[in-house]
Amino acid sequence: MITIMKKPIFTLLLCASGMMGLQAQTLTFKTAKFKVGDEVGYKSPDFNATGWRDIRVTDNWDNQGVPADTRFAWYRIEMRLDKKMLEQSDLKEYLEFDLGPIDDADEAYLNGERIGKTGGMPGDKGGYASAWSQPRRYLVKADSKCIRWDATNVLTVRCYSGNHPGGMFGREGVRVRVPSRVDGTSFAISPQKHADKHSIAVELKSRYASSVSGTMKVELVDPETEEVVNTLNQKVSSLREGKPVKVNVEYDPSRMFLAKATFTEKKSGLSITSSYQPPYILTPPAPATPRFNTTDIYGVRPGSPIHFRFGVSGERPMKITSPDLPSGLSINPDNGALSGSLAKAGGYTFTVVAENAKGKAEQKFTIRVGSKIALTPPMGWNSWNCWGLSVTQDKVISSAKALIEKGLADYGYAYMNIDDGWEAPQRNADGTIAVNEKFPSMKELGDWLHSEGLKFGIYSSPGDLTCGGYLGSIDHELQDAESYNSWGVDYLKYDWCGYGRKHATEPDNQTVASFVRPYLLMERCLRQQPRDIFYSLCQYGMADVWKWGEAVDANSWRTTGDITDTWASMYDIGFVRQAALQPYAKPGHWNDPDMLIVGKVGWSANLRDSRLTPDEQYTHISLWTLLASNMLIGCDLAQLDDFTISLLCNNEVNAVNQDILGIQAKRDIVDGDIQIWTRPLSDGSRAVGIFNVGTEPQKVDFGKYLKELELEGISSVRDLWRQKNLSTSDLRYYIPTHGVRYLKVK
Ligand code: GAL
Repeated sequence: MITIMKKPIFTLLLCASGMMGLQAQTLTFKTAKFKVGDEVGYKSPDFNATGWRDIRVTDNWDNQGVPADTRFAWYRIEMRLDKKMLEQSDLKEYLEFDLGPIDDADEAYLNGERIGKTGGMPGDKGGYASAWSQPRRYLVKADSKCIRWDATNVLTVRCYSGNHPGGMFGREGVRVRVPSRVDGTSFAISPQKHADKHSIAVELKSRYASSVSGTMKVELVDPETEEVVNTLNQKVSSLREGKPVKVNVEYDPSRMFLAKATFTEKKSGLSITSSYQPPYILTPPAPATPRFNTTDIYGVRPGSPIHFRFGVSGERPMKITSPDLPSGLSINPDNGALSGSLAKAGGYTFTVVAENAKGKAEQKFTIRVGSKIALTPPMGWNSWNCWGLSVTQDKVISSAKALIEKGLADYGYAYMNIDDGWEAPQRNADGTIAVNEKFPSMKELGDWLHSEGLKFGIYSSPGDLTCGGYLGSIDHELQDAESYNSWGVDYLKYDWCGYGRKHATEPDNQTVASFVRPYLLMERCLRQQPRDIFYSLCQYGMADVWKWGEAVDANSWRTTGDITDTWASMYDIGFVRQAALQPYAKPGHWNDPDMLIVGKVGWSANLRDSRLTPDEQYTHISLWTLLASNMLIGCDLAQLDDFTISLLCNNEVNAVNQDILGIQAKRDIVDGDIQIWTRPLSDGSRAVGIFNVGTEPQKVDFGKYLKELELEGISSVRDLWRQKNLSTSDLRYYIPTHGVRYLKVK
């Protein structure tokens, strides 16, 4: 599935409600007749479709018993179009077919005449192009000959699915109406920053050629007090397709606001409303003086090369040194990169000093040389959620540079992981894995990352092919592990994918042993290498991987299918599927609920802002840190905005994720839409996430849960996002829709 989204996010068209005008009648269809295959005759209204099956147009065909490998299929809906529909519209110009989004490309016909097309199909000039997320709204002129007024009409939709899932899946179904003027209008609202001023840009557009007039109103509301803090009224005249109206409204980015935009059409009195939450920054800026932000403990096996970067924020230039560094190790004072190795098992504690023009900071640091690595969850970046298969060596380098320049490396983000898409179509003659033209030199890439104190990650599959269709490691496991070692790889994500075909043929494929086998095999190959390679299992949680991940010495295991940047996906993966997995995480072995979906993502060359609202993003990072999850950023680091940086670089929030006790949070309370997850921390305190997973904001009295949480008599309450101590007596908090109050309680 390839994502194509060109529009600004968060635009929510709420209603078109008439005060005194006419409301256009809408015909809604939730089912259709359906046929797999592709014949040109299917579009004809006279085609004999008896024998076509029924299908819901509100859900992908894969979920309705249609084989997942179906490529072409047709939908057919018969409808009577009443001429009265025209009278109900103040525009009377079009008939509009709203088909919702379609996986992946479509062509729609009314009574055999083509009325619209989105995406590309094989055989088209540009070939296949997925447009799975794009809503289809096709307009037909009301006087067009293809409309049969006061008679039966046939809508047919030809669909092509390049990859499962396939077909029509708009939850609202197919909607047909003669729209009013206001129905063509919509808002697109996006955040802007010029110099140091933050504002939201509100754009009112119309899809129709005929001009619309009226008034537009934008209000900034404090959602907690409902106080309107700013109102802007704007007269709108001659709004039409290609001639939008734009206004800018300034706001204070350190406060939570809701922006409400309304447009009321002059003649009909009909209006549309849209609401939008601008990003707001809670994390206080870091001081100019040096401050250590990385965890003070690091695990390594005897003799393995060490690559670590002390994460220190503060003004540059800065020198990072140690007066008592164990022999065998060295620090690059300019970037804080620690390197070398320690042959003997044991604990090595030393002092690290960071100094700049504004001051000096010191931290005791311990290297534990033994059998365990990944004593805290890995932090870093992975190419998949942003670039998908279009990742290149240059993109990895530019992302690593941005990780350093934008200060993320100062907060412990260190792994730079290439996901799928780096292998050549064929192995070398000696059976070793070859890289494709996008990766001129893995060894140089690894060396450069290490010189910066960063770590190098790579991806493969135990099967013949990866999910993206690139070469997997089957029958070449040891050779591949050796190649990784020679390139300096520190992390392997090993993704089941193509192995499924082999597994299906295995006589014992019902057993857990059959799921363990390919992972154990690679583990043995990795352990023969003279370096530590973080072993990340990716098989979506099959056969309860959390129960045996540690036994194959995995450092983390994906617990679910792929995440995407929607509340539904994040809620299901984070809140529903992790709740029972708490006992399985521990230092060295972590549950992995998949990568972060903040910033600009897109799984392809086309990137867009995450579709999570700002509050959903606070919830995402809070929950992932509570869950002791891998913290792998999945966005384009070169395009990081201030809000995303503030989410990823809050040292107190990250400290929960990196806490050395390594105990994952438990879901202690579920009270309607309120969920409280807590985790004990090494300093004796407890991290507490109070989440509102409902669709309405709530005022929560945390005090009433203290007994059940065994937190009576608390002596301090710290708001981790705001980095502020709060009252210990008044524990009532406003928690926005899908939002969180993240605390550390003693
Ligand atoms: C999926 C995996 C994703 C990504 C993708 C690459 O199976 O879950 O995280 O690695 O394959 O094709």
